[in-house]
Amino acid sequence: MKQQITKLLENTLKKENIKLDSIENLIEIPPNPEFGDYAFPCFSLSKILKQNPNQIAENLKQKIKLSSEIKKIEVKGAYLNFFIDKIKFSCDLIKKILKEKENFGKQKINKKTMIEFSQANTHKAFHVGHIRGTSIGESLSRISEFFERKIIRANYQGDTGMHVAKWIWCYKKYHKNEELKKDESWIASIYVDAVKRLNENEGLKKEVEEINKRLELGTDSNLNKLWGKTRKLSLESLEKIYSELNTKFDIYYFESEVEEGGRKISKELVKKEIAKISDGATIIDLEKYNLSVWVLLRSDGTTLYSAKDLALVKRKFKNYNLNSYIYVIANEQDLHMKQLFKTLELMNFKEREKFRHISFGIVRLPHGKMSSRTGDNILYSDFLKEILEYSKKRIIERNKTLTKKELEKRALVISIAAIKYSMLKQTPNKNIIFSKENALNFEGDTGPYLLYSFARANSILKKIDKKAKQKKISKLNKE
Ligand code: ARG
Repeated sequence: MKQQITKLLENTLKKENIKLDSIENLIEIPPNPEFGDYAFPCFSLSKILKQNPNQIAENLKQKIKLSSEIKKIEVKGAYLNFFIDKIKFSCDLIKKILKEKENFGKQKINKKTMIEFSQANTHKAFHVGHIRGTSIGESLSRISEFFERKIIRANYQGDTGMHVAKWIWCYKKYHKNEELKKDESWIASIYVDAVKRLNENEGLKKEVEEINKRLELGTDSNLNKLWGKTRKLSLESLEKIYSELNTKFDIYYFESEVEEGGRKISKELVKKEIAKISDGATIIDLEKYNLSVWVLLRSDGTTLYSAKDLALVKRKFKNYNLNSYIYVIANEQDLHMKQLFKTLELMNFKEREKFRHISFGIVRLPHGKMSSRTGDNILYSDFLKEILEYSKKRIIERNKTLTKKELEKRALVISIAAIKYSMLKQTPNKNIIFSKENALNFEGDTGPYLLYSFARANSILKKIDKKAKQKKISKLNKE
């Protein structure tokens, strides 16, 4: 409508031989609907024409030809207020929706993109922050796919590195009589125990480093076996979460696959004098760019996250030739991503511009509301359990006769919708506080309300007189 009004104004002014740029930017939405749906202030014209703006508004009003969708124009002071015929506008829109059906709003974008998201590590907890990243990545993918952009959903999981070494060390040393389980909270608890013990006794760090080195070299077959088994259990526990969150991946990358590549690139960078050796470690000094120092290899030769990311870029590029590659990663890693991109520039990597970071903020919970067994981060399973319980209470308030099975089923659907929606309705880069009371509000801007609207619309369709013409409205689908 704004564009239509712009056109009307443009045509009228043209006839009067008046030149005014960027009319569209001048159009305002009045604070009060009494003053119309859109308003055009005549102050800029007053400067050009050296006339009283109120008079200009009066004159213009006489000259503008109304269109079928604009019901009337009123002058209030220096403002031209436009009133839209909302019934006509809505009817036209509905006709268009009915005609274009699920293609309504679509523009074809003929591009291919990889979206890397979620990236939960093995041997560690899947926490609330992961839910946000997973929801954003999945949502971006679906929106892009609606525009017929081809999307490759990628995961990149840390299945090696110091956190894995800590887990294996702690299990072997303190928990080896416990049966290996694919239970997310058990896996996380071993990691938490490792961190606690290492905090209490600095001296134990050496043992972990030794395990990290042996794991990376792959020389200790017993250690490798334990790693393989626990890695598999971890991945299975994560898959269960992904299916609950209704997300899937086309390709999984693992840190273990890019270790060797990371070492190789690091050595090449030293040769090219982009990186250098400092105290035995391989580093890139990015101080000049205000990006501090980026360490690629430790002094014992083991690979760091940084070097692996360089190798990952190459691998992605080798696997798929795409128009763009997006990383959805929490803002704690903003500096890391800048260091990565800067290094790609220093390497003269031609495709650097195709790589882009979409950062998202932290998820906090109202203080003290949810207990955590893993420090600050709330485990997915604990979190979901709490939300499920609360949503069951709310469902029972509204419907006392549900069977237990039906209650469980509804609670899961409603809880997941509540969680995802509340994370998606806010700007990604803002930190948020998740409140289950707000997220599970059955009225308002929430996931449950969206589900309710969908159910309600379906029920209206069911009630339409079978003989009525409206029957032709095609069935609504889930999306
Ligand atoms: N697994 C990493 C972590 O938990 C996140 C990976 C992000 N992706 C990347 N290409 N660095 O911190």
